[in-house]
Amino acid sequence: MRVPEHLAIIMDGNGRWAEQRQLPRILGHHHGVEAAKAMVEECRRLGIRFLTLYAFSSENWGRPADEVRSLMELLNRFLAQELDSLLAQNIRLRVIGDIRQLPSGVRSTLEATMARTAHNSDMVLTLALSYGSRDEILRAVRRLAEAVGQGLLQPNQIDEDHLTQVLDTAGMPEPDLLIRTSGEMRISNFLLWQLAYTELYFTEVLWPDFGPAQLRQALREFGRRQRRFGLTARQVQPDN
Ligand code: FPP
Repeated sequence: MRVPEHLAIIMDGNGRWAEQRQLPRILGHHHGVEAAKAMVEECRRLGIRFLTLYAFSSENWGRPADEVRSLMELLNRFLAQELDSLLAQNIRLRVIGDIRQLPSGVRSTLEATMARTAHNSDMVLTLALSYGSRDEILRAVRRLAEAVGQGLLQPNQIDEDHLTQVLDTAGMPEPDLLIRTSGEMRISNFLLWQLAYTELYFTEVLWPDFGPAQLRQALREFGRRQRRFGLTARQVQPDN
């Protein structure tokens, strides 16, 4: 099976999963974390080199305070519990987003986990936390403007590579496939620059129910897609 080098996932539907069962929303997030752990293992097993999970958007700060607090606790516990597993699986943890906004406890666990796993090389697991793509692009543009202000760069020299290198995702390939669960067909301010040529896959399945079987279905569909990057079918596959 052809697997993407970089898979990005918008893990949506935890709240609805819980509400359908008359459970508190946070229990949906607990099951969402279990689904995320299983997905990390499965992706590594399949040889996917980069997995990026949208875990908390910059807009999610506007949710009820108790849900935000519980999500932060859950995240902290996830990081603490997963360290051994990331080390055992040779997985490097990265983060994208404005992590200055995270509670200091979460930030220090995150930074410690990134440092401990920095040399792992089988897969890069990137968590998007307090992440919004427009915010990421703005922060990147400010960095370029600073370089211009310091005389290190001329405005007319700025090209796509310059911007790519100052985004939070610097050094990562662009996603080949984006999966969004729960039936919503939106990008929701996720990786707007990086998704320019990404294949999009939407499924009705709610995130806690999205397991290896559902991933295989998405990858089969991905395998059938022809990626043309703006060229013609004949140019990308001359034999046809
Ligand atoms: C979407 O469900 C999920 C989130 C807002 C973020 C939380 C994600 C997890 C807890 C899973 C993975 C976590 C880690 C740390 C890897 P929703 O609340 O938007 O669902 P709804 O649209 O049905 O309300």
